Parts: sequence; structure tokens; C-alpha cells
Amino acid sequence: MCGRLIPDRSVSKAHREARMTATLDDTELEAGFERTIEHHDRIEPRDWMPEGYRKTLIRQIAQHAHSEIIGMQPEGNWITRAPSLRRKAILLAKVQDEAGHGLYLYSAAETLGVSRLQLTEMLIEGKQKYSSIFNYPTLSYADVGTIGWLVDGAAICNQVPLCRTSFGPYGRAMIRICKEESFHQRQGYELLMTMMRGTDEQRAMVQESVDRFWWPALMMFGPPDDESPNTAQSMAWGIKRNTNDDLRQRMVDMTVPQAEALGVTLPDPTLAWNEERGHYDFAEPDWDEFLQVIKGNGPCNAQRLAHRRRAHEDGAWVREAATAYAAKREATS
Ligand SMILES: [Fe+2]
Ligand SMILES: [Fe+2]
Repeated sequence: MCGRLIPDRSVSKAHREARMTATLDDTELEAGFERTIEHHDRIEPRDWMPEGYRKTLIRQIAQHAHSEIIGMQPEGNWITRAPSLRRKAILLAKVQDEAGHGLYLYSAAETLGVSRLQLTEMLIEGKQKYSSIFNYPTLSYADVGTIGWLVDGAAICNQVPLCRTSFGPYGRAMIRICKEESFHQRQGYELLMTMMRGTDEQRAMVQESVDRFWWPALMMFGPPDDESPNTAQSMAWGIKRNTNDDLRQRMVDMTVPQAEALGVTLPDPTLAWNEERGHYDFAEPDWDEFLQVIKGNGPCNAQRLAHRRRAHEDGAWVREAATAYAAKREATS
């Protein structure tokens, strides 16, 4: 994994010393942890960490990993119906990348003492969440482009700051993931640009798709800051580097000029440049809809989970065979 390629400069001197002294009590260990966070150094899996930090990270990394894997479904839906061999190859590569992202992230979570199997079971039992965006259907091939442009675009806004997150394995996984997300965004934009240069019908398909995905894409950053109770603690621990509203603003500012270049209208009549703020003003997404989707009542929640559950059950024999093979090798070596 990419972690091997990056020299480990991440453990502070104070924390290394703390690790060498077996007799440190909890207060001293906590002080060492706080110093590492203060110096923007990285916490590594063997370092002491508060239980709340570990739990928050497991929840966040698992939710992120689940999103990558569930996120393969809406686009995977179009692989067999891609309009050309070139588009099929691009889409296949993208969906495979998402599987890889899921695996890096499950591996990062495993360094915190949970297994990928446990996390998968929590997902299919509905005890852990994934991004709300993947509960919306993909109704036309333009959606492949819109997801690349807006959904991977939002993922980039969210994830670039996570390359500097305080937990080493998560930050290192994000570096590679972000490079691939940037390819995803470009392929989506290029597909939409090609369609916008095509027929009136193709242009209408793009506009209809953007109309459906704009608001759900803005919801990807989570609820407004004043309704996001975990944000302050996550920022204090250096897990999160920006608030939900900051990131949402960044996404809007980045996307408006791209929409103009593309020739599509974003479905928000209040969208306007605010000279004083130096940012675009925009309307609030429908937070009631967001709440319904995260509660499991979105258009595709049941379908996405049922599909994931089926894939997990269908793969049981592969896991059993691999485990038996590994045990046999160990016994004979
Ligand atoms: Fe991804
Ligand atoms: Fe992606």
C-alpha cells in the first residue's frame, strides 16, 4: 500500500519516548497524545489513543469504506449498457478503483483493532452508514458523467484535507485515493462535455441529470455545522480539518464556473456571486429529505443493502476456501 512508499516521519519525539516507557500512567499517555495532535504529527496504530478517538475513527473510516463499496452499485448498473467500448473501459476502470478505495480503507480501519468482516456485517445489519448520495438511482448514461463531475468532485473537496488527518494509515490511504478521485472527476466532466456538444436530446439528458444530482451532491458534506454535534471534537483531534459548511461552500465555488463552461444550469435560482464574502451564495438543501435518506428511506436504500448482503453471502465460499488454504499452508510450512 502507499504507506510503504512514504517514510515514517509521523511520530513525534515526545510520543516515541512515551512509547518506550512502559510505566507511564494514563494522564502521561494522554499528554503525549495531545502533544502529537498539537504538533500536527501523526498518531500511528501502536500509539496510545483515547477510546473516543479510536471509536470515532473506526466509525468514520468504516463509513467511508462502505461508501466506496456501495458506491460501485449505481454506476456498475451501466457497465453492460455503455454506449461505446471506450466508455465501457473508462467506467470499468472507475468502478474497480472504487473497490480498491474500499479495500485501502478497510485495511486502515483494521489497524484500529476491528476486522473487515465485522465492519461488513455491521453495514449489512444497518448498524453503520454509508454516504447518502448512493441511495439515489442512476436513470441515464448522463448520470455516469454527473456522478463523476459532482459526486467525485464533492468527494475530492471532502477528502483532500483528509490527506492531513491525524491518524497515519487513514491519511496515507487518502493520498492515493485522492489522485484516483481526480481522474474520476475528469472522466465525468469529459463525458458531459462530449454530450453537451452532441444533440439537443443529449444536452437535455445532461441537464436533467444535473437537476437530480445537484442537491444530493451538496448533502454529501453532511448536516449544517450547527446540527453536526461531532464536528468540534473531530476537529480538535485533527481527524477532520474543515467543517461541513466550509467544504460545501468550497464545492459550490469550484463547481459554478465549471457548470458555466459546460453550459448547464444549476437548479438553484438564488445562486449568485457575493462580492463582499468572496463566495457564491446558494440555497439550503432540503434537510428533511437528507434525514429521510440517512434513516433508510431514500429511493434505493433497501436495494443497495440487499445487493450488498447478497454479494456478501455469495462470497462466503471464497472466504472459507481462502481461510482453509491459508491454514493448510501454515500447517505445512
Ligand atoms: Fe472512491
Ligand atoms: Fe471516485
